[in-house]
Amino acid sequence: MTSYTTILVDIEDRLATVTFNRPHKRNAIDSTMVNELHDLLDGLVADGDVQACIFTGAGGKAFVAGADIAQMRERTSEDALRVINGALFNKIEALPFPTIAAVQGYALGGGCELAMACDLRVAGEGAKFGQPEVALGIIPAAGGTQRLPRLVGLGVAKDLVLTGRTIDAQEAYRIGLCNRVVPDGEVMDAARELAGSILQHGALAVRLAKQALNASSRGGQDVGLLLEQISQAVLFDSEDKHRRMTEFLDKRRKK
Ligand code: COA
Repeated sequence: MTSYTTILVDIEDRLATVTFNRPHKRNAIDSTMVNELHDLLDGLVADGDVQACIFTGAGGKAFVAGADIAQMRERTSEDALRVINGALFNKIEALPFPTIAAVQGYALGGGCELAMACDLRVAGEGAKFGQPEVALGIIPAAGGTQRLPRLVGLGVAKDLVLTGRTIDAQEAYRIGLCNRVVPDGEVMDAARELAGSILQHGALAVRLAKQALNASSRGGQDVGLLLEQISQAVLFDSEDKHRRMTEFLDKRRKK
């Protein structure tokens, strides 16, 4: 596999673990990391072997502390229109397999946006989430103003984005920003357990369920319902569905 300078990659039993690896910069996303993630994710999709992916941060202090501010300071409006981080997060959201953000420490700015582009978020008790962009004279423009209100509602999203305040894991859990809170040392185990509970199911069913759910927020209800119906039609003719239902019925008969 290609070796990268800003990310670590481990693939085992259909599960990829991608670790953001700039701990001295609190795993801030720079352009090299963006390019390396594009390359990796394109490869994973092309190979088709991976059926779930965990994203996490090295060093224990941060998941990702945002876009690299040193690089961002020099970017122009033309750069912003290239939607550098936003395009990557759209790619993560659209991956054909489920993704889990395993958050220890700070998930700020682009880090919070990246976590929101994942399907599920597991946080350590000491995790901190926030969209502090307005303090830097910008806005969360890598999907933050769109994904945050969908997850937590418009009122709470406005509170977080307009004040730029940082919240702890318990508050993130209470508002629906993360799905599980566990002791800090157990974040990866909890993320793996969550991935395992998904991997046991039909891969095609999981993939199509994810796509139909994503369509509910991106394409509007008519498009979403159509995708839901077509997905179910595809699954009804699948061998996996027939086998799983037969197994269920056979077990019943044996009782
Ligand atoms: N971009 C670039 N560098 C960053 C960074 C970012 N988003 N976040 C942290 N770093 C760098 C710091 O500049 C510092 O580098 P240095 O050692 O060369 O000076 C290093 O990472 C460690 O950061 P430090 O602030 O000393 O760590 P901390 O543990 O005390 O605080 C944070 C961690 C995350 C609270 C703090 O670094 C921070 O507020 N970062 C910016 C968060 C932000 O605004 N993100 C949104 C960007 S849109």
